[in-house]
Amino acid sequence: MEAPVVFAPAKLNLYLAVTGRRADGFHDLVSVVAPLDFGDRLRAEAAAGLALRCDDDTVPTGGDNLVVKAAQAFARKTGWPGGVRFTLEKRIPMGAGLGGGSSDAVAALRALNHLAGPRWALAEPDLHEVAAELGSDCPLFLIGGPVVLRGRGERVTRLAEAGACRIRGRRVLVFKPGFGIATPWAYGQLVARAPAGYVPAAEAERRLTAWLEDEGAPVERLLANNLEAPAFAKFLALPVLLGELQRRFGVTGRMSGSGSACYVLLPDGLAADPLVAVVRAAWGESAFVQEARLE
Ligand code: C5P
Repeated sequence: MEAPVVFAPAKLNLYLAVTGRRADGFHDLVSVVAPLDFGDRLRAEAAAGLALRCDDDTVPTGGDNLVVKAAQAFARKTGWPGGVRFTLEKRIPMGAGLGGGSSDAVAALRALNHLAGPRWALAEPDLHEVAAELGSDCPLFLIGGPVVLRGRGERVTRLAEAGACRIRGRRVLVFKPGFGIATPWAYGQLVARAPAGYVPAAEAERRLTAWLEDEGAPVERLLANNLEAPAFAKFLALPVLLGELQRRFGVTGRMSGSGSACYVLLPDGLAADPLVAVVRAAWGESAFVQEARLE
């Protein structure tokens, strides 16, 4: 069996409306998410036991890593007796809201399905169930292309073509400061401000439907994220840089998910280099900056 190498894309939340807290402590949301043509690569080789190596030594490779958790969940669910050695080429920064860990976990499930062979492989419904248990952001990576998330993120549907065609292929510039934001902290800030920070569910759906129906509206008009308010209140560097990029280049952007990565949409014909220079001047060499396309 040839060792499978699986691409694990990063994602951007183009639209994120957190609508309220649930009895299980998670939040309900309505979100439009698209994967990028930029991401990690995960290689899986048959081996004794379970091991993970990573080319970035700041990435934890023990039981906390979602790749390891995914392999454990796969073995529990299928009873597959095999072992695997993963090698992760890490390109997506952590604590960014770009879904890196979640995407790696789904790549691990896909690689294991291949490595274990048809006798042990998880069928799509089981794959979805295992992915949802691993993290709210995992199921979206099972689909590919722009999707709508509902529930805590586990209810995934393809975005209607009327909207998807305005998203696919758009260029973006993604940038993250040297610090990350922990997802539980960001949601916790909404809890602390409740109900002020939530978007009512009906309004969240109405805004999305209005954008889908207005076929002349570019993706710039869809962008929203109500996790920005608490994040921007504490981490002023984020709104200051987004504001500067908008003023100087006329571009529209947002924070992705719970941050701290932000992005701007690049209109056709606008080179990324001058924006990259502004990001570097503001946030220095420790910042992550990446041009990519929405898929
Ligand atoms: O599902 P995941 O492990 O990514 O969630 C991390 C944390 O983010 C949760 O423990 C919770 O605090 C918060 N969260 C939430 N509602 C969601 C997704 C995440 O409250 N829909």
